[in-house]
Amino acid sequence: MSFSWAKPYEPKTALSRWIDDRLPLPRLVYGAIGGGYPVPGNLNYFWNFGVLAGIFLTIQIVTGIVLAMHFMASADGGAFTSVNQLIMRDVNAGWLLRYAHMNGASFFFIVTYIHIFRGLYYGSYKAPRELVWMLGLVIYLLMMATAFMGYVLPWGQMSYWGAQVITGFFSAFPLVGEPIRVWLLGGYAPDQATLTRFFSLHYLLPFVIAGVVVLHIWALHIPGSNNPTGVSVKNEKDTLPFHPFYTAKDGWFAGAFLTLFMVVTYFAPDYLGHPDNYIPANPLSTPAHIVPEWYFWPFYAILKSFTVDFILPAKLWGVLAMFSSILLLFLLPWLDTSPVRSGNYRPLFKRFFWLLVFDVIILGWAGGFPPSPKLVAIGQAATIYYFLHFLVILPIIGRIETPLPLPDSISSSVLHGEAAESAPAAIAKTPGARSTTTKAAQ
Ligand code: HEM
Repeated sequence: MSFSWAKPYEPKTALSRWIDDRLPLPRLVYGAIGGGYPVPGNLNYFWNFGVLAGIFLTIQIVTGIVLAMHFMASADGGAFTSVNQLIMRDVNAGWLLRYAHMNGASFFFIVTYIHIFRGLYYGSYKAPRELVWMLGLVIYLLMMATAFMGYVLPWGQMSYWGAQVITGFFSAFPLVGEPIRVWLLGGYAPDQATLTRFFSLHYLLPFVIAGVVVLHIWALHIPGSNNPTGVSVKNEKDTLPFHPFYTAKDGWFAGAFLTLFMVVTYFAPDYLGHPDNYIPANPLSTPAHIVPEWYFWPFYAILKSFTVDFILPAKLWGVLAMFSSILLLFLLPWLDTSPVRSGNYRPLFKRFFWLLVFDVIILGWAGGFPPSPKLVAIGQAATIYYFLHFLVILPIIGRIETPLPLPDSISSSVLHGEAAESAPAAIAKTPGARSTTTKAAQ
């Protein structure tokens, strides 16, 4: 489909012409996130979270690189001291770098979870965006591995015992499990070899994530963005150029969200962490309650839900269920049988969607507290519901539900039958809108 406002990129100065002939990077940017990229005109604020995830990835990489300049990967007390003494007290603004990195990880997960649930509600995983979704899941798995290894680096009590417990998952697998665990740790227990390899991989993986993000956006730009109606773009009245409309919306929203991030970083920097990680690692003293960071709690609850050996040991069931809870999301585009994308037009799906949100919150709550019989029972019920939702409920409601009538087009849903204004006309009215897009409107 062609858009009258989407004029091809035209270099304006002699220098930009010179660059364009040799390396057409500005042309690529113009087509990808500039005035040349058409986006549905009705995107709501939930569509800001992809860009926010990119901003937090950047924050993590930049703060992480500077932290690594001062970090000493030594299990003999060097790692703990370099973080808690050198970086927190001696390095100029080191405390800010560390708190921004620590809370940046949490905020990265917050925005990613909102981004994922946005996709679940509006059916963004459905054709033709299956690969966008699957690449997103690859990013999510890489994020989890990176966050886990990062948490080990300060070599506090939770770092050490977290590494012990999480690598211990692998020993649940018969025959190959223990050799894999020893291979991951570089020994029989977390030690210097573990710390050094985790540091190396923790530095590497964010760049791998950045590479997969490029593929994620590339795959998104083939069909273009989904939107709150779930109805595909039909004509140019349904679209707006990414710039200036979404650059402005993403820009102000990022400013507001980053303000919240800075408030937490400055005023409650340890709120999302665990106090035991301010105690140096001690292999001879097991903490009363070993917990991972909050963003792993739902999976931790699934792991702890298996308490009885049945054909396989309970621990192996727990590990298999935990990994399956994420892996089954790769099948989601085919498990959801409804041809309608957006939850706005699916009355039955909408209810079950909110039940799933509630269920994941319950799982997180059950996973974060020390296990008691009552909590384990709640976690078990929530685990059963989680799998039921994806494997049974979604396939069935797609078949039995009667969706609400879909709008003819995005513009008709927004304008409720009024004559839609074309993007060029809208741009012409925008104060300060400039350049090629404005010219195209005239
Ligand atoms: C580093 C992490 C990530 C970054 C930087 C990122 C970036 C983006 C951006 C910029 C967009 C377009 C804007 C938007 O729709 O919000 C997008 C769309 C999308 N992302 Fe991500 N993403 C990340 C992780 C994920 C994950 C973990 C998933 C799912 C498991 C995911 C699934 C999707 C889907 C399905 C879309 C298409 C949305 C639509 O058109 O409705 N992304 N992503």
